[in-house]
Amino acid sequence: MSDAGKFVSSPMRDNWYQRSSFLGSSFALITSVSEDGLTNIGPYQLSFPFEVNTGRSWMVISRNTSNTATNVWRTHKCALNFIEYDRDKIDTILKFGYPGQTTAEKMAYNTFELMDSPTPGREPDERHPQILADAYQVYECTLDVKRIEENPILRDSPSAHLLLNIDNILVKEKWMAHIDGTKDSMPNIPLTYGFRGGATFWFGEVQPAYKLPIPDMGPNHELVHYEANRMDEEVKFTWEACKQLTGIPNAFLQNVLGGIVKQAKARGITEVDEDFVLALNKERENS
Ligand SMILES: Cc1cc2nc3c(=O)[nH]c(=O)nc-3n(C[C@H](O)[C@H](O)[C@H](O)COP(=O)(O)O)c2cc1C
Repeated sequence: MSDAGKFVSSPMRDNWYQRSSFLGSSFALITSVSEDGLTNIGPYQLSFPFEVNTGRSWMVISRNTSNTATNVWRTHKCALNFIEYDRDKIDTILKFGYPGQTTAEKMAYNTFELMDSPTPGREPDERHPQILADAYQVYECTLDVKRIEENPILRDSPSAHLLLNIDNILVKEKWMAHIDGTKDSMPNIPLTYGFRGGATFWFGEVQPAYKLPIPDMGPNHELVHYEANRMDEEVKFTWEACKQLTGIPNAFLQNVLGGIVKQAKARGITEVDEDFVLALNKERENS
């Protein structure tokens, strides 16, 4: 056996992600409106992107009786506020995570500044919560009641599985310029490792983010297929055609694919197959 040690099987326990294993991730501070019209703040680690391409949706898993679940079921609205790491705020977040408090009790020790959403139609009212002024970004969401009711896994879950459609993403202006990774910093995103052993809740202090260039492994046919088939609505590439195109350096791929699409269109071809690529190669060799 290697020096790294042997694996042992960890038993099933309720809340297994934090009682039978280690799960480190960030968390959202969810604002929603309580029955008496106050904005409530609840921390949620089990909070992940759900649909990422055709739509923007999000999944939050909460105990069924939380203020957040109760409020979102009633109002269908909430905002997911993401804040930067600040040691001074962690104690408040931890207290927000203690079950059984009313919103008024929580707001009495709140140290976050609440503000009205700048989004038209999201002005605070009996359904729309305020958002956190300290957040680096906020997802403004609506509960997808219809799809939850259609889906037995979500509908019948003993937890609240809140399928949320993200109506609007607000990003602080100063961070918007960093979205594409060209600048040299990222928000200082906090980490939680969850509740441990009945008496402690763990958080992680993060190091500044750093960037690496994506390694040039040379295009494989899956990458070529992906790139080729999003060049043009009318011209599609077969897998076999793409296998012929794996020798092109990444830097020239877009150019070469663009050239093939142009040739295909000039000849009225809508499906680029292996024969078409081979024929173009031959033409080029002979010209
Ligand atoms: C950092 C952190 C993350 C948490 N993540 C979750 C979670 O994903 N799901 C959950 O049900 N409770 C989670 N909790 C516990 C809830 O915050 C707790 O149930 C709290 O009462 C929720 O507040 P609310 O009732 O005002 O919604 C977390 C607590 C902390 C401190």
